[in-house]
Amino acid sequence: MFQILHRDGLGRIGELIVNNRKITTPALLPVVHPFMKDPWIQIIKELGFEGIITNSYILYKRKFNGKDIHDHLGFNGLIMTDSGTFQDYVYGGIDATNSQMVSYQEMIKSDIITIRDVFSLPEDSWEEVNNGVNETYNRAIEAIKLTDKYLALPIQGGRFPDLRAKSARLMGSLNNEYFPIGGIVPLMESYNYSSVVEAIIISKMNLKTNAVIHAFGAGHPMFFSLLVLSGADVFDSSAYIKYARDGRILTNEGTVELNYVSEELPQSAILDKYTLKELKGMDESERTLIIAKHNLYISLNEIKRIKEEIRQENLWNYTEYRIRAHPLLLEAYRKLLTFYDYLEKFESRSKRSPVFYTGEETFLRPLIKRVVEKEGKKQDGIQINKKPYSFYLGPVDTIIKTPFGNFSIYLDETYPIAQSVFPGEYYEKEFKEEIIKSEEWKDFLIRKANYIFRYQFSIPLSDIVDLDEIQIRISKNTGKLRNIYLNDKLLFSLRAEDGLFTLAYEGAKLLHQKLERPKQRVFVSKEISSFLEEGKNLFSKFVINVDDSLRPGDEVIVVDEEDQFITFGRAILSPEEMKDFKYGVAVKNRIKSKDLEKD
Ligand code: GUN
Repeated sequence: MFQILHRDGLGRIGELIVNNRKITTPALLPVVHPFMKDPWIQIIKELGFEGIITNSYILYKRKFNGKDIHDHLGFNGLIMTDSGTFQDYVYGGIDATNSQMVSYQEMIKSDIITIRDVFSLPEDSWEEVNNGVNETYNRAIEAIKLTDKYLALPIQGGRFPDLRAKSARLMGSLNNEYFPIGGIVPLMESYNYSSVVEAIIISKMNLKTNAVIHAFGAGHPMFFSLLVLSGADVFDSSAYIKYARDGRILTNEGTVELNYVSEELPQSAILDKYTLKELKGMDESERTLIIAKHNLYISLNEIKRIKEEIRQENLWNYTEYRIRAHPLLLEAYRKLLTFYDYLEKFESRSKRSPVFYTGEETFLRPLIKRVVEKEGKKQDGIQINKKPYSFYLGPVDTIIKTPFGNFSIYLDETYPIAQSVFPGEYYEKEFKEEIIKSEEWKDFLIRKANYIFRYQFSIPLSDIVDLDEIQIRISKNTGKLRNIYLNDKLLFSLRAEDGLFTLAYEGAKLLHQKLERPKQRVFVSKEISSFLEEGKNLFSKFVINVDDSLRPGDEVIVVDEEDQFITFGRAILSPEEMKDFKYGVAVKNRIKSKDLEKD
């Protein structure tokens, strides 16, 4: 029911379909009071929300019975219901059992039914939280026996990482898909964003990669980007109305209090219709409505913006701007970066967007740290502040000093060495004609290809083909290496965007011959080979095994169980994801492009 369409960091644009109702993640579900649907449902529909969350306990208490909740609310999008756990936390003691609440939610035809988890507070002791985690697990088992409907199984664990991990492992063992992270509201209220990020990522690390992660009560849009980067797929929020009641206007950088604004209102399609004076002069209920509508609008807009940033593979850059809004967000971002080993597995080796330096944390991004650990040289290098370095320095085999560290000059076109912007570095389009016209330049490019190849595929090009026998094509305009041929057959192309190789059919076959299994491979069952030979993409449900060192975006070879070559393409998912996901594309097939690549 859940599949990934685009990704960046742990953030992903996904599609979740429950009861034929679809939401695109990251998704914000506004909290709607089940007996105060007007005018909210209308506004929510106008703004274009695909789903909402409401509270089934309030309905249950008031003996609302029978009707489909979608009809009652007049909303035919996805409706998730919460179980009363939160009321228990706010007011203490609710008089409904887990089984009563689960059956009740099923009766009113909720799309996502939440069990009555045990809410752990940050101040609870380890023993108390442990008991809560065990009890929540038992209630999940009880719920699964009661209904075959789509269940949300909250992960608790208070402030204890070991118990958070335990809760995730227990809940994750139950073969469900949807996991809210519980007990984080009090952390957010005390600006402890760092513990929220920790709770999310520890839960994620102990669940399967196809788990849908919901951050319960993650209200403020300034936090959304970091939450998405940390792996949250869904949020719910009542902040829009709660803040509005106090005259507090949300922006994606913080909160503006109407009482203290004297120059101008924050901008939005909603607030722009009013002057500051008009808004201040309104009666309270009208003003609250307008601010709440603005708050919803701004929150949804931030989600849309984040989706845009994921599509552009710019979420790391964007999050580094957003977290500057609050020092405790910066602290939380630093916390996220400490999970390098986990983050790195999901991180591609290049992005559509360049790395923009914003501060020392930029160096700790997994993509950068990985390159530095793998390719960084101890030896000091030559400093030159124009990129790409060799186009100014000429064809010299040397080490260059970059803001990331010292690297072989052969990586000067490769992501992120070239595709990054630091203060004091200039990118100049013009190149020195005499450099790229020389015979040494051609030899230099072959040595460069050899080096990049080893960086990318762990063996040098010279192990695949005799470098004296290959032909190379160099761009006349830019002097850059374009293609590598053997006997007039295209083997590999160097992408101008990220300075990494794309496989062509003959190159993929050669690579398959020379690289030992399981390197660079995705294994599938023989039965689907004809399907793949026709050029269809490889869906994750057909993946049997994968080389664990692959990363999303890598060039891959698709083989059967006996290592017979079938096709080649580009990985869309990480190895874990290829194994976990039941829906969606794992490898984009490029076998059909073999005819196009002739010239
Ligand atoms: N709403 C906010 N936090 C929670 C939580 O931990 N559990 C449930 N069920 N609802 C919540």
